[in-house]
Amino acid sequence: MFNETVLKEIEEIKAKYPERRSALLPSLYIAQREFGWLSHEAMECVSKALNVPEAMVRGTASFYSMYKHKPVGRHVIQLCTNISCMILGAEKLVDFIGTRYEVQPGGTSPDNRFSLVIMECIGACGTAPAMLVNTDFHENLSEKRIEEILDKYK
Ligand code: FES
Repeated sequence: MFNETVLKEIEEIKAKYPERRSALLPSLYIAQREFGWLSHEAMECVSKALNVPEAMVRGTASFYSMYKHKPVGRHVIQLCTNISCMILGAEKLVDFIGTRYEVQPGGTSPDNRFSLVIMECIGACGTAPAMLVNTDFHENLSEKRIEEILDKYK
């Protein structure tokens, strides 16, 4: 269940739109922030807060890759392996992250510190390889650079 602060936040978002369902995407984002991922309970909370059918909430959430549909680690690494990043060694970086941080694509490390998601192009082809860690963007990656970055995420 959302607490009063979160409900107020969603009410403020709802007030910006003529239709409740227009507030679905930001409300799902808030639910994900609060629950860590979009569990059945999280989507039920969104449905109740917006007074829209749960099927609409689930259908919307399932369309976007930015929503997490299973539990994830404390930090989510989204590494691009598309063409520019691949040419500049992204596949080796996947292996490096797997070995160094014990996390495989689609999985979560045993200490629950990192989840790793392989992404299509994230729009940084000119400064590839690139990744997101949570919402932080990082580019010009190398093994050394990844180590410097990820070691800051505890
Ligand atoms: S191919 Fe990786 S950012 Fe475009």
